Amino acid sequence: MCGIVGYIGNKEATPILVEGLRKLEYRGYDSAGVAVLKEGKLQVIKAEGKLSFLESKLLGKNPTGNIGIGHTRWATHGRPSDENSHPHTSCSEDFAVVHNGIIENYMELKEWLEEQGHIFSSETDTEVVAHMVEHYYKGNLEEAVKMTLDKIHGSYALGVICKNEPDKLIAARKDSPLVIGIGEGENFIASDIPAILSHTRKCYLINDGEVCVLTPETIKITTISGEIVNKEVFNVSWDAEAAEKGGYEHFMLKEIHEQPVAFRKALSGRIAENRVKFEDFHLPLETINKWKKVYIVACGTAYHAGLVGKGIFENLLRIPVEVDIASEFRYRRPLVDEETLVIVISQSGETADTLAALREAKNKGASVLAITNVVGSSIAREADFVVFIWAGPEIAVASTKAYTTMLVAEYLLALYLGQLKGVVSEAEAKVIIDALHSLPEAAIRVLNEVDRYKEIAEEFKEKHDAFFIGRGFDWAVALEGSLKLKEISYIHAEAYAAGELKHGTLALITKETPVIALCVQKNTYDKTLSNIKEVKARDAEVLAIAIEGDTEVGKYVDDVLYIPDIYNFVAPILTVIPLQLISYYAAKARGCNVDQPRNLAKSVTVE
Ligand code: AGP
Repeated sequence: MCGIVGYIGNKEATPILVEGLRKLEYRGYDSAGVAVLKEGKLQVIKAEGKLSFLESKLLGKNPTGNIGIGHTRWATHGRPSDENSHPHTSCSEDFAVVHNGIIENYMELKEWLEEQGHIFSSETDTEVVAHMVEHYYKGNLEEAVKMTLDKIHGSYALGVICKNEPDKLIAARKDSPLVIGIGEGENFIASDIPAILSHTRKCYLINDGEVCVLTPETIKITTISGEIVNKEVFNVSWDAEAAEKGGYEHFMLKEIHEQPVAFRKALSGRIAENRVKFEDFHLPLETINKWKKVYIVACGTAYHAGLVGKGIFENLLRIPVEVDIASEFRYRRPLVDEETLVIVISQSGETADTLAALREAKNKGASVLAITNVVGSSIAREADFVVFIWAGPEIAVASTKAYTTMLVAEYLLALYLGQLKGVVSEAEAKVIIDALHSLPEAAIRVLNEVDRYKEIAEEFKEKHDAFFIGRGFDWAVALEGSLKLKEISYIHAEAYAAGELKHGTLALITKETPVIALCVQKNTYDKTLSNIKEVKARDAEVLAIAIEGDTEVGKYVDDVLYIPDIYNFVAPILTVIPLQLISYYAAKARGCNVDQPRNLAKSVTVE
């Protein structure tokens, strides 16, 4: 997820662009850049690192002009660097482009453009857009952009300016957010409302397939094929801080609700004809067959994702998988060698314990694959192979969309390895892939039950303890649910394998002890139901998480939350969402600092 801004009007563009980028830093912050046009001269300044690095560069160059575009990056294709920063320009440097999204067919386009003589200067997918516009430009920028859009597949929010048409700023949208700010003698484009809020509260919300042509006095919106689009003006009532959260009260709630989009991005371009592929690597079969054992190593929520991963890999690949907490792994003389695949999972890609485990594994000759959210992070750079989860920046300390997209990445990776090894049938792969594709809509249905989560969370307000129980995948998800609740609401919560309660912990279950029982997994349902009856017999208050249509469990518990009946093997990705929301609303009801809980940091870079 990146942030784009653009300005055309009667003021100096640069300060407006920089201010807008600062408001969009939450969308990505590993590099930034601006392109400003004045008297036929396109001035492009960009810098790796935080926005402040760009500001330092700008002080020296001080580009002037009344039209410009800017970008703050969350690297997807191409590590963070000056060259890979946006804006990207064409060979002639007559055109500059900023982009948020993923051009899925960029390799094919890049090869075609290189055959036409175009020379590329970056590793990014975006750069193809600048060269395509240049290729199609015959004196009409709008037409050249539309011809380009006809050829590119993927997602985009684009800003384009051209030296030969200094009175025009073009923008277009497909799958990535774009707003147009309506000013007096000036107009704006941005990925999100915060970037323009200090200049105007009037804007157009752009939809997929719409192309906008801005001049200082006019805004024309059409479809790619040219039909005029008439839009209502949207008047922004939010304050600036609320706008950065997209109108949500906290980043955590925003990120929970971003999960359907995050699933689409995590799957984007990685499944073709029911076969999984990864954009960044292809593993030779002899490499895969060399691995006789898998270790999954991580911390916190990422560790819980690894526990689900164990079930995924062992079921699909039938090879032994051991899951370890990173801070334990390196001190137990792990049985790791050249025949081991070590998968490290880390949202930030900077967790010290996990990085140390990666290095230990490599020292022992293992192959290391990272599942991470941050391109250019230490773990991404040091791993042999990387699967990015494409969740976009996760700002809240409590991890939500990163956890579920880690699971998506594990399903994809297991399918990829299983299909290459020939141990996953076409039919089995299809069922899982269909379920993965159904996730966004299924997740939206779960997210829409907000009032139920608020109501249940209110009951947790005065509680001091809570227990989560489940078996198999449900136990792994229960662990994540208990971490969510305790780390943001400060209610002491524990997760237990449901069958383990009677071996001791049942002694803690008293009248009104809240127990959240996950009984989604069909292969352990009956046993879990027995465990539910055990705790109910001790007068516990039991909330069940079950599959819609389950008419049995409701007879034995105080309340039930249902999730859509998707293919059971993929259900963990949905099962966790009610737990995320109950934790969020319980923390809110208790007046806790939801986004920044006490004692915690978003990335633990100390051991
Ligand atoms: C999860 O809600 C916590 N913020 C924490 O457990 C986190 O998952 C852990 O610190 C690992 O972080 P990483 O994924 O960035 O490595």
